[in-house]
Amino acid sequence: MSYSKSEVLFALKEVIYFPKNDNIVNLNMVRDIKTEDNKVSFTLVFPTAKDKNSAIVIPACRKAIAKNLDDKLEVEIKETSEDLIGGKEPLSGVKNIIGVASGKGGVGKSTVSANLALSLAKTGAKVGIIDADIYGPSVPLMFGLVDGRPEIKKENGKDVIIPIKKHGIKILSIGFFVDPEQALIWRGPMATSALKQLFNDTDWGELDYLVVDLPPGTGDIHLTLVQEVPVTGVAIISTPQEMALADARKAMAMFQQNKIEVPILGLIENMSYFTPPELPDKKYYLFGKEGCRKLAEKTNTTLLGEIPIVEKIREAGDEGTPVTLDKENAVTKAFDELAANVIKQVNIRNVEKAPTQKVKIEK
Ligand SMILES: Nc1ncnc2c1ncn2[C@@H]1O[C@H](COP(=O)(O)OP(=O)(O)OP(=O)(O)O)[C@@H](O)[C@H]1O
Ligand SMILES: [Mg+2]
Repeated sequence: MSYSKSEVLFALKEVIYFPKNDNIVNLNMVRDIKTEDNKVSFTLVFPTAKDKNSAIVIPACRKAIAKNLDDKLEVEIKETSEDLIGGKEPLSGVKNIIGVASGKGGVGKSTVSANLALSLAKTGAKVGIIDADIYGPSVPLMFGLVDGRPEIKKENGKDVIIPIKKHGIKILSIGFFVDPEQALIWRGPMATSALKQLFNDTDWGELDYLVVDLPPGTGDIHLTLVQEVPVTGVAIISTPQEMALADARKAMAMFQQNKIEVPILGLIENMSYFTPPELPDKKYYLFGKEGCRKLAEKTNTTLLGEIPIVEKIREAGDEGTPVTLDKENAVTKAFDELAANVIKQVNIRNVEKAPTQKVKIEK
């Protein structure tokens, strides 16, 4: 049987690195986990080379895997140190990475990503957003940063990108580096290497949530994201029409495929209903009613939010001031509720990393 990376991490949480009085998972010492049938391998990164504690930590890891997962698993542990690999892992300060995806284009991923990021930040969380839509970046426009150019600093001889800060969140888009028309002709490998840079060659610092606005559909970018980055979960957006829902199901299936297995945090229905400003109590279900709610029930996922069609959402997006910045607007409440549900689901996933009941959940 093959275990997931999070199961391995959870099993290793009971291994303590005594000099820092914390477990090796919290200390981000476990890297590069690979699992296959009957085998687990990973690298332990000690603060300095030839750390004497490895004589205690390595056998303790083997014991924890045998006890919490399977005592017949082959366990391969490589040992290295931070000074040898040149500092910390790039995303080590980022607690949760949330992908925003959809099967169909134009359903509101970018709009929802931007407003979700701002609503998350309103809770006091540290938030960043990556516009991973290499072929049609829209985050620069939505944040009024069309001419934005991030600064680059040198660190250990390497160029490191500093995200642009606006409205209290850190923002990065491929649109800051290339003319969108040029990006359109990029081939797969160029696009994926650009995406990797947005994650790995960037000083994200400490973040509670990094929201990733994905391109539509399921392509190279999605695969790169799930393979290269420790994604906490994805939220799938759909509009209520049957066509969009069918594509949302395809996107869900892709993320749940064997070997990918990224948790689905839930579904977000965008353009759920229309409420005319002069009739605030009326809801017109232009594209059908409760399509995402029904799909969530059918697929045993959570409905994270229902966002109405509001002219102000589009206007505010086009003007570079996402609607949630306006506290008075009724639709802001819908985004705040969405953010609260996303936080809830992320917290559930972080606890659920327990592989079996045998493992104690730390208090
Ligand atoms: N709830 C809404 N009410 C009104 N307009 C909306 C709403 N959601 C999105 N829009 C508008 O619909 C258009 C498409 O939205 P957006 O760019 O966010 O979609 P997308 O899924 O990111 O598209 P793409 O697949 O091209 O990346 C934009 O003009 C946006 O302002
Ligand atoms: Mg978009």
